[in-house]
Amino acid sequence: MNLKKMPVTMTKGVVQNAMASGEYDTGIEAKIQLLQIAIAPTKLTTVEELVLRYVLEGESYTEIALKLGYNYDYIKSIGSKLWQLLSKSLGEPITKRNLNSVIKQKLASVKIDKTPPKSQLNLPPKIQDWEESIDTSFCFGRIEEISILKQWIRQDKCRLVSILGMGGMGKTALTARTVEHLQGDFDYVIWRSVRHLPSLDELLTDILQVFFAARENDLADDTNSRINCLLAYLKNYRCLLIIDNYESFILSSKNIEHKFTSPPAPSLEGKGSQVPPFPSREEGLGGLSLSIGQYLPDYEEYSQLLRRIGEERHQSCLLLTSREKPTRLAAKEGEKLPIRSLNLKGLGVPEAQSIFQSIGLSLSESAGKQIVHRYSGNPLILKTAATVIRDLFERDVKEFLAQDTLIFSEIASLLNQQLDRLSSLEWQVMDRLIVYREGVSLEQLQNDLHHSVSKSQLIEALKALKWRSLLETAMSQYKLPHLVSKHLAKHSAR
Ligand SMILES: Nc1ncnc2c1ncn2[C@@H]1O[C@H](COP(=O)(O)OP(=O)(O)OP(=O)(O)O)[C@@H](O)[C@H]1O
Ligand SMILES: [Mg+2]
Repeated sequence: MNLKKMPVTMTKGVVQNAMASGEYDTGIEAKIQLLQIAIAPTKLTTVEELVLRYVLEGESYTEIALKLGYNYDYIKSIGSKLWQLLSKSLGEPITKRNLNSVIKQKLASVKIDKTPPKSQLNLPPKIQDWEESIDTSFCFGRIEEISILKQWIRQDKCRLVSILGMGGMGKTALTARTVEHLQGDFDYVIWRSVRHLPSLDELLTDILQVFFAARENDLADDTNSRINCLLAYLKNYRCLLIIDNYESFILSSKNIEHKFTSPPAPSLEGKGSQVPPFPSREEGLGGLSLSIGQYLPDYEEYSQLLRRIGEERHQSCLLLTSREKPTRLAAKEGEKLPIRSLNLKGLGVPEAQSIFQSIGLSLSESAGKQIVHRYSGNPLILKTAATVIRDLFERDVKEFLAQDTLIFSEIASLLNQQLDRLSSLEWQVMDRLIVYREGVSLEQLQNDLHHSVSKSQLIEALKALKWRSLLETAMSQYKLPHLVSKHLAKHSAR
């Protein structure tokens, strides 16, 4: 539509929404919508819209460049292109100076149409950028978890949500299903796995390039400016960012001990199919007063990203999946706060039955209970078990269950990766916990350790195990997940 030739008709909803959206100056949304209608079918790019928005808010090019993390010259060139485009569409010369007053006049003459055609809403495009596609068609259950996550993200407008749980527990699958439910709420959905350990700068550049195809040297050099730039998008658009495998950035306790005893050992264990050896329980500093969930050297800047996304006002959400909880996150979480985490538990019998069915096996209720208990409802292990029963036990679930000690290389590999990260104090606590299948109190544990560690050190170690998804707690009693104690028992028996 060209405003110099036709009367402007704006939707009542657009104007009302704009007026009601308390986040910005009342009226800015209406002005932007008006300009979008004026230039249609041309669409503003994300960065053009942001420059327009900030100019309407009275910001200088220097301030905009600083806020968005781009060079001054680049922002200025975007501005000049905008004024040319708008001058042509509005039929009068538009400059940075007169933009606000011209738009005000135009808005005053806008006729409000009560029943607008939807196409005139000219909503920003929905952009999805999933690095890898995740098939969720055989993902069962998790209704409650999805509804909690929907509540947190949609209703409670949480800014930082983490999904925690041991390897194979279904964090990625649950996240993918949740995103399917919520993606319609967002202008941008961007999914990145960080298993390959990108530096924060690399990740920010990659994400910012989804918002706008900027060349690397159009972006400001320092990390802080790039975070500013990301936050500007998170404020102005509703974005859902997903960072999968966040544990890749977290140092193991064992390596923290090495920091104090010897040069750091290579910390990035492979995740290949070969079973890593059972972790050694070497003596270290006993994990005393070493804080858990710390970042690998060179990756500490990520904590700044999390802090700013969690604490600053914006309308977006960062969803993390991690086997371990990052440090400093817990203190900021809370039921009433916009930072929360969900500890993912195992699947139940009906879901195990569905998994077996999808592999062509039937699983009775009682066998289902045993299998779920034995493998702590871990979906990856349930799938592996079902395949083994089909291929090696001629589909005989009972026969398989009779092999009480059976533990597959996949399970050993999964658990060893996690056990290999424990400090020696965490190992000592694990050794005691194996004895108490039904759970043990803090006092009893301290007695068992002959009071060689203080209560607060013991609590630290228990917290670390919990954060690594290696501990279950109920009514002040602590115990190991069945799968873990079984695996440990097998190795202690050797
Ligand atoms: N609810 C479910 N129903 C059926 N299968 C599931 C379910 N959740 C996960 N799975 C399957 O279990 C396997 C492990 O799931 P997923 O990769 O999501 O685990 P994860 O917790 O992300 O593991 P990791 O810590 O290694 O990243 C996958 O093959 C996935 O398809
Ligand atoms: Mg995963």
